[in-house]
Amino acid sequence: MSSRGTDSAYDVEFRTVTKRFGNLTAVNAVSFQVRQGEFLSLLGPSGCGKTTSLRMIAGFEQPDEGEIVIGGVDAVGTPPYRRDVNTVFQQYALFPHLTVLDNVAYGMKQKGVGRSDRYQRAREALELVRLTGREKHKPSMLSGGQQQRVALARALVNRPRVLLLDEPLGALDLKLRKEMQIELTRIQGEVGITFIYVTHDQGEALSMSDRIAVMSDGVIEQLGTPAEIYDRPRTAFVADFIGEMNFLEGTVSRTEDGEYDVTTAGGVVVRARGEATRGQAVKVGIRPARMRITGATDDGVVNAARAAVDTKMYLGDEVQVVATLGDGTQVVIREQRAGADAPHDAIRPGDPITIQWDRNAPVLLAETPTEQQE
Ligand SMILES: Nc1ncnc2c1ncn2[C@@H]1O[C@H](COP(=O)(O)OP(=O)(O)OP(=O)(O)O)[C@@H](O)[C@H]1O
Ligand SMILES: [Mg+2]
Repeated sequence: MSSRGTDSAYDVEFRTVTKRFGNLTAVNAVSFQVRQGEFLSLLGPSGCGKTTSLRMIAGFEQPDEGEIVIGGVDAVGTPPYRRDVNTVFQQYALFPHLTVLDNVAYGMKQKGVGRSDRYQRAREALELVRLTGREKHKPSMLSGGQQQRVALARALVNRPRVLLLDEPLGALDLKLRKEMQIELTRIQGEVGITFIYVTHDQGEALSMSDRIAVMSDGVIEQLGTPAEIYDRPRTAFVADFIGEMNFLEGTVSRTEDGEYDVTTAGGVVVRARGEATRGQAVKVGIRPARMRITGATDDGVVNAARAAVDTKMYLGDEVQVVATLGDGTQVVIREQRAGADAPHDAIRPGDPITIQWDRNAPVLLAETPTEQQE
């Protein structure tokens, strides 16, 4: 067991951390806190600074500016092997000539832990990842998912304060990936260790995390629970990166009693809950599943838009319609076939339709991220 430093409520804290590689700023004045026992994901497109952030926590890179606090103690300057963190990579790099048990026990041998003690602990770690019975096998006799479990057992055997995982499921096929996602959440719940999980897969981040930090270009655009990020994205980038989003642009034409209207160039009036400034040019987002096609064709109502159907596709229980509004804006509507109020089966490309949504569906989006949340 490793020692627990202080009673800080945060296991990891970034305080305006900046990392540059020559002219390139990989991480730009980033601040965030990771709570004890939390499953936090760093999510974002390739090159946004996820791995660099993780490597600074592990101590493989040093920030140019700012502080990184681990367990309440400033970690900058502390070498990797003295930090109470461990890392699991996409390439699990097991020793091919060692057995599964020896792979897991290897690190402890280096640290001088006695033989019976290290095998005892390695067996416990293998039990945790459900590989009991495979102790004597060589890695080549295991599937990709099982090999990744060995890597996980090896990283958890010393019970670090924080486990860093950099796209650990990236090399697995979809089915194994799904299985391992469930396994990882179970294991994290059992050991209670803080997980910082890097991924560019939004579905993975949404399903596994307590909170998600959405990164773009070296900054955190938004940090929040999966529901907050999905239902209340703050920026068009976050809205678009996490699932699909229809965007409507217009001007705030009315504000009243915690509601606002946005009128688009095509005359569509979006009425939503929230605060906005009159006269402001804005972008609102509406999820495809929050739009529905109705039989009504009367114009001049709020939260309704006339459109022409471009394509219709069956997605099993759902039907997806792509349609173009009067001003040329293209939108995607996805409806449960069972719940649809119009006979969608009859819809054909070229048909005029009316699209509706309710006042809770639109989200007001900012151009740039505002101050980061806690
Ligand atoms: N050692 C390095 N030297 C120079 N540039 C680097 C170095 N490491 C990272 N970078 C650059 O910093 C930026 C962020 O890289 P990083 O590896 O953190 O991205 P990432 O979010 O992990 O991307 P991916 O999803 O592709 O793994 C990239 O533009 C990358 O090219
Ligand atoms: Mg990376």
